[in-house]
Formats: sequence, structure tokens, C-alpha cells
Amino acid sequence: MKFKKNILCIGAGYVGGPTMAVIAAKCPDLKVNVVDVNAERIQAWNSDRLPIFEPGLLDVVREARGRNLSFSTDIAAGIREADIIFVSVNTPTKTFGHGAGMASDLQYWEKTAYEIVAHSDRAKIIVEKSTLPVRTAEAMERILQENKKGLRFEVVSNPEFLAEGTAVKDLLEPDRVLIGSRQTEEGRKAAEEIVGIFARWVPGDRIITTNLWSAELSKLVANAFLAQRISSINSISALCEKTGADVSEISYAVGSDRRIGPRFLSASIGFGGSCFKKDILNLVYIARSYGLAEVADYWQAVIRMNEYQQDRFVQTIIREMFHTVVGKKIALLGFAFKADTGDTRESPGIYVARKLLEERAILAISDPQALDNARRDLAGLAGEVDYAADPYRAADGAQALAVITEWRDFQALDYEKVFASMRKPAFVFDGRNILDHRRLFEIGFNVYPLGKPSLTHFA
Ligand SMILES: NC(=O)c1ccc[n+]([C@@H]2O[C@H](COP(=O)([O-])OP(=O)(O)OC[C@H]3O[C@@H](n4cnc5c(N)ncnc54)[C@H](O)[C@@H]3O)[C@@H](O)[C@H]2O)c1
Repeated sequence: MKFKKNILCIGAGYVGGPTMAVIAAKCPDLKVNVVDVNAERIQAWNSDRLPIFEPGLLDVVREARGRNLSFSTDIAAGIREADIIFVSVNTPTKTFGHGAGMASDLQYWEKTAYEIVAHSDRAKIIVEKSTLPVRTAEAMERILQENKKGLRFEVVSNPEFLAEGTAVKDLLEPDRVLIGSRQTEEGRKAAEEIVGIFARWVPGDRIITTNLWSAELSKLVANAFLAQRISSINSISALCEKTGADVSEISYAVGSDRRIGPRFLSASIGFGGSCFKKDILNLVYIARSYGLAEVADYWQAVIRMNEYQQDRFVQTIIREMFHTVVGKKIALLGFAFKADTGDTRESPGIYVARKLLEERAILAISDPQALDNARRDLAGLAGEVDYAADPYRAADGAQALAVITEWRDFQALDYEKVFASMRKPAFVFDGRNILDHRRLFEIGFNVYPLGKPSLTHFA
């Protein structure tokens, strides 16, 4: 079959894979090829054991794979054939040199620019899908202009707003698709091409076109605002624990104001994931590099509050378990940074596990999707860790349960059975406020929710 256009995506990760699968499923007349340097990942995309867990993703991949969706490691051939190239490589926080711990590490992204130049023999539209510092497109344009063949590349910014755990739904029914371009005739034409792809299934009023810099910066700002809501409510959870107020009641009361809204107002052990912290750090770095110290400090506080909340959780466990957890088995319920994903990047679970191991606790970790990643995250740490797919096994002989991830599976456990198998006095530290605290207390647990009064049997 002759396809109308060839689309390439460089980077087959949490964003590139699902995004391209949905484009291919919705546009059977477009050929979509996804390439990656990681051969193991590509092999997994070509199998029924996908490299990432996302509800509904396997069905979408199966629908399009072999028809108009392919996964490959041949980056050069992919570039040669493509009319439109999405770049969806990782842009983690820099760990070395100037800006270490704050700025974006753009080495993977920059490498793709040189590869595009090397393997292109006709003009193409380059779409920034990765989250990038504002004005990065300018650097991409400069590298692409250096080609000896006189080719003109138009760079468009199309940041991705999907959330892990709901990626397929978010891609099928996005709140908005954002497309930024140069405000020139060629720039607008390139943007129109990309609009044309999404317009196949996204209503026109949800497709926003802006200038390049607004699109790039909007992505960082959206993540900063979302993380800020979590840090805001988490700061109040600490105050609730001192005052007897209940943070869930406050969330409900405050979120009922339509100007505020109810979402992202649940107190928790804090946000994780590969994006929030990295993108705010980047925003802080950018603000500082423009000399905007107050702006940088303002956003930095969102991260500081997140670290404080994770640490508070660990300190509560140690304090309430009589100031020592040495040799005590603690079951961590969940390890993924949130439910419905196996992703553990920046998960609060990593911090909690590391701190408890330093205190010489014995850990048993149970998670429906994240145990392989958990093993990798904790490899090399001193101490005893058992990875148990079965939560009952994790709880067996433990003295405390600590809820790290809001998996619904944990709400459905038989807590009478769990309690019976545990050492007494038995504790529950609910880092997500998902369990029925009153019921657990009645069973015999000493219960420590977040941001609300604890329920204990101690006099
Ligand atoms: N994960 C999310 O929820 C999410 C949401 C929105 C935006 N983003 C942004 O999207 C981008 C990608 O994130 P991700 O979570 O998919 O990352 P990821 O690490 O899962 O995937 C990136 C992939 O790019 C590949 N890669 C790196 N350099 C390459 C090169 N030169 N050639 C070919 N492949 C290369 C890596 O091997 C990896 O498989 C990041 O900028 C991130 O900030 C992520």
C-alpha cells in the first residue's frame, strides 16, 4: 500500500511508543516508524510483552503494528524515508558539569539533530516531542541549517501532555494538543501539517497553535503548576497533623470551589515520575540564568516541599515504631511512582526504601507492575529486601505496612488475614490515604494516615 506520508519517531519510550501507536491507529494512511538505539526495547515493542505497562496500550499497538506501525533500530533508514520526524528522546536532569542537578541534559536530543542532518537528502519537518528548555528549537534549527545539501528543515514544537497510567486515554481524548511554530509562512505551513494529523480525531477547538517559545515553555509551566498543587496540599497535610484538621475534608472543601477544582488535591507522600522534578528544576535553572532569582526561588519551593513530605513520612514511621526499626520487617505496598504504571523513576518509594534500609529495617516490597524496576533501583544498597508479587507474602511476619502507591489492589486485600500474619503491635502508614482507616483500626492496627488524626490502641 502507498502511504500518504512517512512519519518517524526517534525514541521509543513512555512517550514515543504510545503516541505513535495512537497516531498509527487513527491514521491508517500514514506510515509510522519508531526507532530507538535500545535494541531490547525495540524487540519488546515488536512482541506482546511491551516494554512499558499502560492500560489499553497493547490493543492499540496490535491494531496498527504490521499494518502501518513498525519499530526498528535502523535510525539512518528511518530518517531517510521520513517526511516528518518526531523527536521523543529522553531529556533528563544534567548530572555533570555546569548546571548539574538543575539543567536539562540535551546530549541525546542534540545527537538526533546531527543524525537527521547526516541521513537526510530532502527537506523535513522536525517535531520536538521531548520536553525541552524554552528556545531549544533555535539550537535545533542552527544544527539543521549546517547541512551541506542546502535543505530547509522546519522545526515545530508539539510537547506531550499525556500522563503515565492514562496515556492511551489521554492521547485519544486530549484536553488539548499544542503546536508551536515560527510565525513565518513556512513555519505556519509546517504547523498546519502537524495539526492535520491530530485533527483526524481531536476536535479543532482542542488544537492550539502558538509561537515556538510559548509551546516549549507551556509544557514546563503545566508540569510546574500540577506539581505545585500537590506540594500545596502536602504542606497543609503537615499542618493538619498538628491541629486535628483533616486534609481530605480540606481538599474537598477547597476543591469544591470551581475556581480551584478538585483534581490533584490529594495529600500523599509526594510526587514522583520522570517529569515533575526534572521540569521544575529546569524551569528554576532557566529563571536563574535570566537573573530572575525570585521566580527561581518560588518554583524551587515546590520541590523542597516534596522532599520534606517524603522525609516526614519516613520520620513518622521511625518515631511511631518506638524510635527504632532495626531488624523490623516493613512491607512497602507499591513502588511505582503512581498507580497503573510500572515506572519507578523518581518514585518516593526509592527514598523511603533507602532511608529505611539505612535505619536497618528489613523490607518486603509488593507491586503489581514495578518489581523489576524496583530491583534495579535498589540494587547495590546494603540491607535485606524481599520482592514479593503477592502482598500477603510481603506482609507475612511484618510489623508495619507502608502504602507507597495508590493501586486499587491494596484496597481490596483481606486485612483480617493480613493482620493475623503480622507481628504485633501492627502498624499501617498510609502514604496515599487510600485505605479504610477506621476499619483497619477496628481490626487491631495502629493507623497513621497522612494529614489526619492517627488511630492507635496505645493508651
Ligand atoms: N514519561 C512521561 O510521562 C512524559 C510525558 C510528557 C513528556 N515527556 C517527555 O518526553 C521525553 C521522553 O520521555 P520518555 O519518558 O518517553 O523517556 P524514555 O527514557 O522512556 O524514552 C526515551 C527513549 O529515547 C531513546 N534514545 C535516546 N537517545 C536516542 C538517539 N540518539 N536515537 C534513538 N533513540 C534514542 C532511549 O533509548 C529511550 O528508549 C522527555 O523529554 C520527557 O520529559 C515524558
